[in-house]
Amino acid sequence: MRIRTHANPFHYYQREERLDLTAIFPTFSGTLDVECGFGTGGFMQHYMAGHPDRFMLGFEIRQPAVALLQERIPDEMKSRVYLHNGTAEIGIEDMLPDQSIDRVFVFHPDPWFKKSHHKRRLIKPAFLKMLTQKIKPGGRLYVSTDVEDLWVYMRQSLDASPLHEIEDPDFWRDYYLTPWQQFSVRDSRNSYRGVFELS
Ligand SMILES: C[S@@+](CC[C@H](N)C(=O)[O-])C[C@H]1O[C@@H](n2cnc3c(N)ncnc32)[C@H](O)[C@@H]1O
Repeated sequence: MRIRTHANPFHYYQREERLDLTAIFPTFSGTLDVECGFGTGGFMQHYMAGHPDRFMLGFEIRQPAVALLQERIPDEMKSRVYLHNGTAEIGIEDMLPDQSIDRVFVFHPDPWFKKSHHKRRLIKPAFLKMLTQKIKPGGRLYVSTDVEDLWVYMRQSLDASPLHEIEDPDFWRDYYLTPWQQFSVRDSRNSYRGVFELS
């Protein structure tokens, strides 16, 4: 089995330029979703195929994953999907205006098990504070993991944020299909997931 260490998001420090959404999405409808850490992009392709009216900005710190997905995205989807090689934290904060995001997806973020590495976790109070400025009122955050300790940590951060939990069973049934989630099911791991809305 190939073991890989996680890429440290703190190695990325370069600030980003503000995006002109109408320039990157020529037919932009104003409905913007964001996926943080899309990996091989299985979820993004499936979700966007089912939502022809939505636009997606994806962040991923592994450059080869970005290049691979860029190649794989079907042509008809290319004008609605924009991929960025960099951290979701810096990208969302710098590239997007306040109250611009409809949905944020964070599926199976790196767990960073050691306590001294918890600051590298994506879902944490500082990230949620920034995110709640960038999400529209009524916007949502979809989160999943198979690591109980990480789920407890993320829940504590979410419970202390202005986001509140809602149900969206149709989403999990119809669209939640990520490579890591499929591996997790095959490996009989636990599944923790939730949807959190900004009122
Ligand atoms: C365990 S994988 C999960 C991939 C995919 N979401 C899935 O469910 O199959 C976590 C992914 O997040 C990426 N990643 C980790 N930290 C990140 C960050 N701060 N910003 C963007 N991507 C990140 C990693 O490179 C990796 O591809």
